[in-house]
Amino acid sequence: MPSTSDQRPASVLSLAPVVPVVVLDDVAHAVPVARALVAGGLPVIELTLRTPVALEALAAIAAEVPEITVGAGTVLTPVQVDQAVGAGAQFLVSPGATPSLLGAMGASGVPFLPGTATVSEVMAVLEAGVTEMKFFPAEASGGAAYLRSIASPVPAARFCPTGGITAATAASYLALPNVGCVGGSWLTPSDALAAQDWDRVTTLAREGAALGT
Ligand code: 3PG
Repeated sequence: MPSTSDQRPASVLSLAPVVPVVVLDDVAHAVPVARALVAGGLPVIELTLRTPVALEALAAIAAEVPEITVGAGTVLTPVQVDQAVGAGAQFLVSPGATPSLLGAMGASGVPFLPGTATVSEVMAVLEAGVTEMKFFPAEASGGAAYLRSIASPVPAARFCPTGGITAATAASYLALPNVGCVGGSWLTPSDALAAQDWDRVTTLAREGAALGT
């Protein structure tokens, strides 16, 4: 089992301005896409647990691309928490939060971003002692204007908004005081993956990394 103990990030929100969210259908793409992101200056990748190869892809990246911080996304159940950490996940991201999932992620030993979309959900996650969270689906839930509106009422919460964000809209989120990073799949478009166009992924990563400067 890969060890996560010595590469565990303290905060998911501080890894990079943009977290590439990647849906992989072909495990052979895992290592090249991770290397392409690193080459573009984004040493972080969130692999969604939505495809049959996701755990195998995660393990391949953890084993072969040590310079990237690899996490698991779309974590829905405590079983998936164990599977992801067992495969080498260094952080976990979920689209929502239930008490059992929060408990499992809290006990996992790696940092995590539970998903929230409403103020009550944010308050419930804060009540569980977690201050960093995902805001999902960001654009459909009110976007940057919504996050700006809740910065004052719930100042302890810090977000990684994800869902519908693009290169054109990312900066409006990153300018907010309660946003640490944004997540999105625009850096690894499905057509680029299918064509194994790693140069394009590197170019998109470079543009994403520049949003933090
Ligand atoms: C997800 O979990 O799908 C992420 O939120 C990515 O959303 P996006 O594909 O709209 O960037």
